Amino acid sequence: MKLKAMLIAGALSFVPMTAMAADLTIGFSQIGSESGWRAAETTVTKQEAEKRGIDLKFADAQQKQENQIKAIRSFIAQGVDAILLAPVVATGWDEVLEEAKDAEIPVVLLDRTVDAPDDLYMTAVTSDLVHEGSVAGQWLVDETAGEKCDIVELQGTTGSSPAIDRKKGFEQAISGHDNLNIVRSQTGDFTRSQGKVVMESFLKAVGGENICALYAHNDDMAVGAIQAIKEAGLKPGEDIKIVSIDSVPDIHLAMANGEANATIELTPNMAGPALDALEAYLADGTMPPKWIQTESKLYTLKDDNMAIYEMKKDLGY
Ligand code: AHR
Repeated sequence: MKLKAMLIAGALSFVPMTAMAADLTIGFSQIGSESGWRAAETTVTKQEAEKRGIDLKFADAQQKQENQIKAIRSFIAQGVDAILLAPVVATGWDEVLEEAKDAEIPVVLLDRTVDAPDDLYMTAVTSDLVHEGSVAGQWLVDETAGEKCDIVELQGTTGSSPAIDRKKGFEQAISGHDNLNIVRSQTGDFTRSQGKVVMESFLKAVGGENICALYAHNDDMAVGAIQAIKEAGLKPGEDIKIVSIDSVPDIHLAMANGEANATIELTPNMAGPALDALEAYLADGTMPPKWIQTESKLYTLKDDNMAIYEMKKDLGY
């Protein structure tokens, strides 16, 4: 049943609207499975839907925007009640979001933002992506305490909001600190394998002894880079400091072994707040704010990284 129809039905029949969540069918257009974090987000979303009795239609786009657009059109044709969209890139969504709007199907963005008018989606559940980059940059500012440090950067998927914003935040935080310079910056597409390949090319081009720090837009690329650094005969975490984003179990294991230095946590539970917002809308028409912000927490070597690894390792990453 469409949300609007359910609202009218609820108002007329005095049926508690929360009891109707079991009737909901929601389409979820997921980017793919490029990282451990992405796998965990998929797991948590399926669990959250099951817990609430929601019929979740899951579509894996295998990193392609065209597949996401096809999936959204198919969800619209099936008459789903709502759509969850984790958008692979920021641009190119206006047309398909207009189609969803015309069909009166609310769209909730998960973990990434889009460059589209905000009346085309109901809300976006994301972290402050610029802030994450700036926390990483500030960590390095503090860590280096004025000493010269040449940085290499592994960017996320080109054109994605986390790649754009995490780069921006990091650059803002290190600007004005003349000791810190980004000497190489390239995409590793948020994957472990590309993180390794690109780090190998950085080591070759710059020379490992000339690289003081790696900033990776996600932990998976950092984990791949750690392998490349070790194969080059250097000690990750010591010869080259490593700061990245996500807080996946493997980065905590690397930190526990002294092979990485800091990570900023991104919760994989974007679906919880998204489905809460949809259920509240169903119950009484409450519109959520346009942005539901999730927390970002910095972990360093001061934390008990082995305990965090143990706690997270079976959570679907
Ligand atoms: O959009 C969130 C980012 O996407 C995560 O940091 C990264 O691991 C994922 O691929």
